[in-house]
Amino acid sequence: MTANRPSNRRSPRRPATARERRTETLVLTVDALGAQGDGLASHQGQRVFLPGALPGERVRARVAVGRSAEARGSVDAVLTPSADRVAPPCPHYGPCGGCALQHLAPGALATWKRETIRQALGHRGLTDTVLEPMVSIPPGTRRRATLGWVRTTVGVVLGFHGPASHRLEDVRNCALLSPTLAGLVGAGGPLRPLLGALATPGTRGQVVLADTDTGLDMTLDLPAPPDLTGRERLAAMAEAADLARLGIRLGGTAWEPLTARRPPQVRFANLPVTLPPLAFLQPSREGEAAITAAILARLPKGAARGLDLFAGLGTFSLPLVARGLAMHAVDGVAEAMGALGAAPGVPPRRLSTETRNLARDPLSGPALARADFVVFDPPRAGARAQADALATSGPPTVIAVSCNPATFARDIRILVDGGYRLAAVAPIDQFPWSAHVELVAALQRPS
Ligand SMILES: C[S@@+](CC[C@H](N)C(=O)[O-])C[C@H]1O[C@@H](n2cnc3c(N)ncnc32)[C@H](O)[C@@H]1O
Repeated sequence: MTANRPSNRRSPRRPATARERRTETLVLTVDALGAQGDGLASHQGQRVFLPGALPGERVRARVAVGRSAEARGSVDAVLTPSADRVAPPCPHYGPCGGCALQHLAPGALATWKRETIRQALGHRGLTDTVLEPMVSIPPGTRRRATLGWVRTTVGVVLGFHGPASHRLEDVRNCALLSPTLAGLVGAGGPLRPLLGALATPGTRGQVVLADTDTGLDMTLDLPAPPDLTGRERLAAMAEAADLARLGIRLGGTAWEPLTARRPPQVRFANLPVTLPPLAFLQPSREGEAAITAAILARLPKGAARGLDLFAGLGTFSLPLVARGLAMHAVDGVAEAMGALGAAPGVPPRRLSTETRNLARDPLSGPALARADFVVFDPPRAGARAQADALATSGPPTVIAVSCNPATFARDIRILVDGGYRLAAVAPIDQFPWSAHVELVAALQRPS
């Protein structure tokens, strides 16, 4: 039999068909929390994912039992509750996938997040790393969000998808969002009536929101170009809700401005940057302040020149410039580098910018070695190629920032193998009620 010969036997990678799965009601004991915050239990060799269940709990759950190694279940009843279980504060919790862990007490959530970091580091042999206490950012602070909407025959559903589902939960009162965002998307806010008037039944899309320092920046997906009345409605809503800018995307295509009442700006160390449409922004001002403080606390003494890799809009470059340092900021998004380069009030010769794909073309050699330090804040996937280049020719200090402990640990291992020493890791929980956590750590290369 050749390897390519078709076989009647089911490949272990192919998802089970409905006939191969059957739903059973089981009593299970939860032994851990998974990476996404689901309770984990075992049943006849299968790993069962149970959203809403906590370690130590006995639960009755309906489980789609099949032949694959993993199954998903839904909890019907918690028979023996954990001492860490609390009443979720949000009425949408459960059907809404915006939060995963509202049922876990805040202290226990912080302990679990610290443990996930410890495990990720341990996985890469970084077992003796010191973890600082968790800095926890409260809910009600989230300043950027992408919500889905669907126009039905009876109204508008606007909110977040359910866990592992395409179904949208109509979120009328979100406890995560900043008051301004919550007001816009909430029950009495102007977004639902606007979508009800603009969209026809059966159409759907997203709305992308950023609560900037000069007002809301909103991008709305629309299925078709609005007619004159539609444009007037959009402009009237922008006026009534005092939006800074409103843009639209037609059928998921390029962003187009509809009304720009004033530039949507964020201030980093009091230096204003105008947001390009759909730009990356740290999720809360409070989280951004905590990360910036952790970076400043790790600056090497006497540093004069730094590199900010994966710089975004200059969230960290500008506070460093404001401290008198000369910074070179690099990011793959040209619009972000353009916005940062155009920021008014930056003292001359303190800031340079470069658009560069650091995954394909990492900064290396003398360009790295000339700096006194690097700030390194890649996306969730991490930055293996840039870490390789830093390990070979990086400056004496690297300050690593990450929102993913697994890729953080992988990239840090590369740096440690290149001769860097990892100092204490600062965890910052800027993703309340989720399984995510932010990290900041300095690495020193002994001279
Ligand atoms: C986690 S964000 C951090 C941005 C910024 N440091 C901040 O705190 O606002 C990651 C940044 O990496 C950039 N990025 C993603 N992939 C990249 C690549 N291959 N090369 C360069 N930049 C990239 C994104 O544009 C984004 O600005």
